[in-house]
Amino acid sequence: RFKAVIFDLDGVITDTAHYHYLAWKQLAESQGVHFDHAFNENLKGIDRMGSLDLILASSSRTYTPEEKLALADAKNLHYQELIATMSSKDLLPGAVEALDTVRRAGLRIGLASVSKNAFTVLERLGITDKFDYVVDAAIIARGKPDPEIFLKAARELGVAPADCLGVEDAVAGVASIKSAGMFALGIGHPFVLTEADVVITSLKEFNLAAY
Ligand code: G6P
Ligand code: MG
Repeated sequence: RFKAVIFDLDGVITDTAHYHYLAWKQLAESQGVHFDHAFNENLKGIDRMGSLDLILASSSRTYTPEEKLALADAKNLHYQELIATMSSKDLLPGAVEALDTVRRAGLRIGLASVSKNAFTVLERLGITDKFDYVVDAAIIARGKPDPEIFLKAARELGVAPADCLGVEDAVAGVASIKSAGMFALGIGHPFVLTEADVVITSLKEFNLAAY
């Protein structure tokens, strides 16, 4: 019944969510801000500056825009070091199979990640050519939970939002899919992804015919 499937990247196709966690944790602690997995959950799917603002909100001091940019750059450099050795071994179980299932079913395939490192990560994973369209995060004005990025992907794929299945591991990402008017497949836990239409544990359970 769908004409396109639009995937998130971090935490859905590959576990870069862990690398983001490590890089943000170091940055937060360098500013005297406590950082743990529970807090990190709020950052999933949130763009770089938005994530930094959430972290610095717990700091006792204020930051100039220049200081914020420097901190965001430092985090990104650390993150890029962490992803430098990634390869196809870092694909999450079921990810390639899910992409190939969608392809065989004749549907269009998009990628909607707010990460400015998404193109690099796709290259490292060796799956760039599996996508018909990858949104360039640099042209997106409003990050998730705003629907802009999923709507942009649908438009470029030439498919109406109602005919799209969106796949997300983040609360903000599921909200973005739902406000775009799409069917939301959550990857994670139903207690966390309460807005998703269906939640599965990983793409190993992906079953296109069931949604
Ligand atoms: C994804 C991740 C976020 C990350 C964001 C921006 O949405 O889930 O944790 O902050 O991308 O990534 P970037 O690579 O541009 O810093
Ligand atoms: Mg994600």
